[in-house]
Amino acid sequence: MLSPLPPFPILLIYKKKKKRIKIKKRIMSAALATPLARQIAGKSILVTGGASGLGAATSALFASHGAHVTILDLDAAVGEAFARSLNDAAAARPGATGLPAVQFVKTDVRDPEQVAVAIAAAEELQRANQEAFLEGAHSTSTDAAAVAAHPPYYEHVFGCINCAGLGPAAKVLGRKGPMELSFFQNIIEVNLIGTFNVTRLAAASMAQNAAQNPSVKSADAYEVGADTTPYFDNGVIVNTSSIAAFDGQIGQAAYSASKGGITSLTLPLARELAAHRIRVNTICPGVARTPLLEKFGAKVVEALSANVPYPRRLLEPREYAEMALFLVQHRYMNGETIRMDGALRMAPK
Ligand SMILES: NC(=O)c1ccc[n+]([C@@H]2O[C@H](COP(=O)([O-])OP(=O)(O)OC[C@H]3O[C@@H](n4cnc5c(N)ncnc54)[C@H](O)[C@@H]3O)[C@@H](O)[C@H]2O)c1
Repeated sequence: MLSPLPPFPILLIYKKKKKRIKIKKRIMSAALATPLARQIAGKSILVTGGASGLGAATSALFASHGAHVTILDLDAAVGEAFARSLNDAAAARPGATGLPAVQFVKTDVRDPEQVAVAIAAAEELQRANQEAFLEGAHSTSTDAAAVAAHPPYYEHVFGCINCAGLGPAAKVLGRKGPMELSFFQNIIEVNLIGTFNVTRLAAASMAQNAAQNPSVKSADAYEVGADTTPYFDNGVIVNTSSIAAFDGQIGQAAYSASKGGITSLTLPLARELAAHRIRVNTICPGVARTPLLEKFGAKVVEALSANVPYPRRLLEPREYAEMALFLVQHRYMNGETIRMDGALRMAPK
């Protein structure tokens, strides 16, 4: 005899290459007791600039929550070694399929073809893990931890955290004359156009999750009363701007312009992509303790820390990653730009 129906059975539809398998699973409500955790485990997450600094911390945190992470960055040697180390840790978590959960794809975020290849690789990683999971013991498991580690699967990209960027400074009117136009163009191309390039292609992938993610009203405790919004997001984008978008210093004209563009993209993107159930938020870090900054030396780091009202220290990459995770998890965060700066307001120089 069948066990009594749980509050909301989940229909998982999985398209295999040639055949279409419909798998109906009754998942005990206890296993779905953590709506936030459910947003991450078993999902495909892209992290650009994911081999260093803020991106590396983000790749590590999402992988530790059971996401299938694709790292898009330039340095293959560093990126592949980092992905291997994250895979070793991911292999030990409940619900692990035995396949790699993290991969590195050498990608220049400015290049549409390279980004398309990276997204196809992310979808492939997702499908392979999904197939292994559904064919494995976990597909019939009633163990709450194992099931909760694998909520409804999507075949396509679910999260995109854009961290790739660079931040050299130069005056518009320097000692050697006006700034080279190519200097300005390069920063805009990597920071702004690169972010937009990945965002547009990731959003196209996310929108396809709708096929596996039908709009249903659920018993989610977060959806009460007149809330008729669909249950699951199809995707979430988190972009990285900077407080320089608002308080750009002398020498930051190009950098601030690139980050201002990212900040200004947030609301129109969130408004447009709402139709696809994709949320968009932006983080503006203050001064973070990353390789980008540490190369200036301990004295500079100390001086920068002293300017931060509270906490009187630099932002830790892990703290940025936690904010990215929060923005991906929290269903009501959308169209928002968040400063993470310890109340720092940058002086003109
Ligand atoms: N560190 C800070 O204090 C700070 C403050 C505000 C904003 N940010 C922003 O945060 C983001 C991450 O900075 P970080 O401090 O971690 O720097 P980082 O140098 O440690 O990491 C940036 C990563 O982006 C990659 N990258 C650069 N150009 C790329 C390209 N064309 N294609 C793909 N990858 C590329 C680099 O290889 C590197 O791995 C940047 O967008 C930066 O502007 C940093």
